Amino acid sequence: MSSETRSYPRRVTTEAGEIEFRLMSRADEAAVLAFAQELPIHDLLFLPRDISESKVLAAWLKEIERGAITSLLAVKAGRVVGCGTLVRDPLSWSPHVGEIRNVVSSDVRGQGVGRVLSQETFALALGAGLEKVVVQMTVDQTGAIAIFEGLGFKAEALLRDQVKDKAGKKHDIVVLGHNVAQVRAQLEAYGLPGAVQH
Ligand SMILES: CC(C)(COP(=O)(O)OP(=O)(O)OC[C@H]1O[C@@H](n2cnc3c(N)ncnc32)[C@H](O)[C@@H]1OP(=O)(O)O)[C@@H](O)C(=O)NCCC(=O)NCCS
Repeated sequence: MSSETRSYPRRVTTEAGEIEFRLMSRADEAAVLAFAQELPIHDLLFLPRDISESKVLAAWLKEIERGAITSLLAVKAGRVVGCGTLVRDPLSWSPHVGEIRNVVSSDVRGQGVGRVLSQETFALALGAGLEKVVVQMTVDQTGAIAIFEGLGFKAEALLRDQVKDKAGKKHDIVVLGHNVAQVRAQLEAYGLPGAVQH
C-alpha cells in the first residue's frame, strides 16, 4: 500500500512522553503479541479476529507482506503501546474503501497517543487514494468516537448485538464513515485543490 506521502519513523511528543510511530513488520511479532495480550478483551471486540492469538497475528503479518494491510506501531521506550491499522481489499467490490482499526495500551490512554495514531492512519488512507474510510467500534468507546468525529467521520450504522464477548455478553457496534472523495470534491469546488492531498 502506498505510504509515499508519509515518512516513518516519526517521533511525536505526547502527554505520554516521546512516542515513535513506525511501520510494523515481521520483526515486531513478539512485541505486538505481548501488547495485544495485555489489552482487556473488551477493547478487542471491534476487531474481526482476536489479535491476542498468535495464529491471528501470523495471518495479519502475511497481509502486511501482501500489501493489503498497513500497520503503524506506537512505541514508547522500546515497548509497543499502540497500533493503528489501515485495511483494504482490492479484490472485493469495495476496493475504494479502507478501514481503520486502532488500539492503545490501557496505561497510556487519554494522553494523546490514540489521536496521533488516528491522524496518521487517516493520512495513510488519503495517501493511498481511497475514496471512503470507515471505522467501527463498540458504542461505549466514546474516546474513539470523539477522535473520528473530530476528523470528519459521521455515524452511518448501528449494528445491534453484533459481537459477543468471551462471557457470552452481546455488544452493539457503531460504524462511522468518511466520504473522502466528496470532501475532496467540495474543497476543489471552493478552489482549494491542494488542501487534501493524494
Ligand atoms: C480509541 C483509543 C485508541 C483512543 O486512544 P487514546 O490514546 O486514549 O486517545 P487520546 O488520548 O488521543 O484521546 C483522544 C480523545 O478522546 C477523548 N477521550 C478519551 N477517552 C474518553 C472517554 N472515555 N470519553 C470521552 N472522551 C474520551 C480524549 O479526551 C481526547 O480528546 P481531547 O484531545 O479533545 O481531549 C483507545 O481508547 C482504545 O484503544 N480503545 C479500544 C480499542 C477501540 O475500541 N478502538 C476503536 C476502533 S478504531
